[in-house]
Amino acid sequence: MRRTHTCGELNSSNFGAKVILEGWADTIRNHGNITFIDLRDRYGVTQIVVDNTKSDSIAQVTKSIRKEFVIHVEGLVRARPSGTENKDLSTGEIEVDVEKVFVVNSSLPLPIDLNGRTETNEELSLKYRYIALRSTNLQKNIEMRHKITKAFRDFYDSEGFFDIETPIMAKSTPEGARDYLVPSRVNPGKFYALPQSPQIFKQLLMLSGFDKYYQIARCFRDEDLRADRQPEFTQVDWEMSFVNRDDLLDVGERAIQSVMKKVLNVDIKLPLKRISYKEALERYGVDKPDTRFGLELIDLTSILSKGDFNAFNTVVSGGGVIKAINIEGKADFSRKDISELEEFVKIYGAKGLAYLKYTNGAFEGSITKFFSPSVLEELKNKVNPKENDLIVIVAGKYNVVSAALGNMRNLIAKKLGLVKPNTWDYLWVVDFPMFEMDEETNQLTYAHNPFSMVREEDKELLDKEPLKAISGSFDMVLNGVELGSGCIRITNPDLQRKVFKMIGLSEEEIEARFGFILNAYNYGAPVHGGFAFGLDRLVMILTGAGSIREILAFPKNKSGISLMDDAPSEVSEKQLKELHLQLDLPKE
Ligand code: AMO
Repeated sequence: MRRTHTCGELNSSNFGAKVILEGWADTIRNHGNITFIDLRDRYGVTQIVVDNTKSDSIAQVTKSIRKEFVIHVEGLVRARPSGTENKDLSTGEIEVDVEKVFVVNSSLPLPIDLNGRTETNEELSLKYRYIALRSTNLQKNIEMRHKITKAFRDFYDSEGFFDIETPIMAKSTPEGARDYLVPSRVNPGKFYALPQSPQIFKQLLMLSGFDKYYQIARCFRDEDLRADRQPEFTQVDWEMSFVNRDDLLDVGERAIQSVMKKVLNVDIKLPLKRISYKEALERYGVDKPDTRFGLELIDLTSILSKGDFNAFNTVVSGGGVIKAINIEGKADFSRKDISELEEFVKIYGAKGLAYLKYTNGAFEGSITKFFSPSVLEELKNKVNPKENDLIVIVAGKYNVVSAALGNMRNLIAKKLGLVKPNTWDYLWVVDFPMFEMDEETNQLTYAHNPFSMVREEDKELLDKEPLKAISGSFDMVLNGVELGSGCIRITNPDLQRKVFKMIGLSEEEIEARFGFILNAYNYGAPVHGGFAFGLDRLVMILTGAGSIREILAFPKNKSGISLMDDAPSEVSEKQLKELHLQLDLPKE
């Protein structure tokens, strides 16, 4: 037998038992003839005590043991001497008195430090990922990921959903990012695309009659990486037939309620808050609002365009808006604090940041001189400031002002510590528009998903005012992060064709890329819709991890490279030839 117990298992109920353990030597402490070894595995740590006077061979083996050797010990469980118990450890009452010990495999000194006792640079810990994964922190994250995935599986299974796998080598379909392509050897010049999501397949499964589908699906997107993005990531993807939007919201929120209960024993009250896309933008500036704190946007367009401040007046006459956030009690922000905020809003295209302080019952600041007392009175009634409030103001195009203040709102909340840890702010953002205008190309693009159904009452708007048409799309948001999205799909091939045309696809492109799905709709399509949770993002938030790399066993770095195995890597001439490929590399 290699082991009778794990290293996290033994306690006072095992006193006197003869046990066999295997694990890593976590720490080794020599006290004369006695050696203490903390033996570690993923379940915990057990104190091993070796009396080196028992035999020469035991003493010799013990002397050879170094940190991270895998060792085998056999011995008797006994109570730790009174006063030396460790209440923080599940095994803290016992120790194992060793009768036999041998080294299973030795280890070189570790190139990285486990459990963050010294700063280990991230590159090095990605290179030695299999070692980094021994750290308690990463082990906890991986365990949490497993539990979350399992809870989702249990939920969808209990609701009668079938787990159906869809192809990884598929046809290129747009989800907003570039595809990863796989050349076909037997079909020269042709490529598969790795799926950006199983979108089209799950819709086709609805046509086939599998009215409840789910899959823990790997997705691949060639896009710029950020702290919450990986080139390959995982969705909890699902689709249902014979439903309307509210049925989907119901399943989505019960799924998350069940996961939160099973994994964290947290009760999430249903139904979740719902907020329209329009209201989210107006009040919070972004379509994924964190509503755990105030700092809401205040529209001052009609008031502050009544003065002599040219910068504001020009913006408003050009169709723009003036909006503000009241940072309560922060009139003492220094010039430096404010210029940092100004630099921040410029990232989002704002030209600048004006501000007013409310002290001694009046507004103070360089822009007050542009406004009459009555306008300032109107401003006061609108903002309702208290003593020592700081009002920061941005003027510009609606989208620029929203993004600038919306993101600044999150920054300020972080800076001022307005967000309590371990709070779960779930909400739905509903009623996304069908289209947006791409300002660079002046071309309509889909706002959410090209397969989103238009709201019944807005069908007419598609021809007249498409930008006003609302779709059946929605997002789930957690703590200001987009956790997932979904919609009711278009099932009428003519309408789907029309939407493709409206977003600028030619007849030929539509036929080449989507002909098969448009054709499928001619053979009896039930009304259907679905949703996908970003599993990685959920795990990241629930574990409190600082980056998506901390909740994946084998992540890529910010340049999409796996430092451990050096993927992506060059391939041989022979492989290229077989695939009928020639490289045309950039000169640099
Ligand atoms: P969407 O593109 O919004 O929808 O993706 C759903 C969720 O997946 C997560 N996500 C990512 N997570 C990590 N790294 C990435 N690169 C990444 N990209 C997206 C987000 C996002 O909310 N087919 C539709 C869903 C549907 O309509 O059913 C889709 O893929 O949490």
